[in-house]
Amino acid sequence: EKRFLIAGSILSADLLNLEKDVADALANGSDVIHFDVMDYHFVPNLTFGPGFLKAMRARFPQAVFDVHLMVDPVTDKIIEDYAQAGADMISFHPETTFHVERMLTLIQNLGCKAGLALNPGTAPQCLRYLWDKLDFVLVMTVNPGFGGQKLIPSCLQKVADVKRMATEANVKPLIEVDGGVDVRTIKACADAGANLFVVGSAFFGKPDRKEAATSLRGALGE
Ligand code: DX5
Ligand code: ZN
Repeated sequence: EKRFLIAGSILSADLLNLEKDVADALANGSDVIHFDVMDYHFVPNLTFGPGFLKAMRARFPQAVFDVHLMVDPVTDKIIEDYAQAGADMISFHPETTFHVERMLTLIQNLGCKAGLALNPGTAPQCLRYLWDKLDFVLVMTVNPGFGGQKLIPSCLQKVADVKRMATEANVKPLIEVDGGVDVRTIKACADAGANLFVVGSAFFGKPDRKEAATSLRGALGE
């Protein structure tokens, strides 16, 4: 098993050549495909519906699809739609439902890995009683909504706090970082405890994905 996983974010892919871009990403070092779902309400942007994911799943049956729901409210229906469309991992933000535990359970019951996504201003204390329902934690390292932003350094302290909390609880969830991850910042994310790295502009945004993945792994010391 790999120590570090890279998740190319299709938000930064060439949307009119997505089939080619996803194939290129999978062949050249993206372990996971990160799929951002935005609703113009929780975040000031709008993206990919479940029909879109279903089409990607049909074309790439073996790929690992990581669905990041930035929607408010998150509902059973939304989770069911993306699970049926072919998600492997689903995360949502705790602010978007009164029933965080129930939603995590629903995701797991649908056969997906369940995660909570934490905005820069959101404290990690909400994780404390939920570890047995958390396959992963997504720590936002920018404010969600757009690719190409600069990593907010204080978020790395939160990655370290999440890592420590997990260690104290004797669990080993994946710790995913999302936003502003590039060759300059990825090592600090790993040192703080992250092992799954969403990379949009510094991967899909580059013409040569093989070279991009190699330099990211190089920065990790791999
Ligand atoms: C931001 C999204 C990210 C985005 C990251 O709201 O959640 O997944 O694609 O893009 P970069 O890597 O360019 O910061
Ligand atoms: Zn994301």
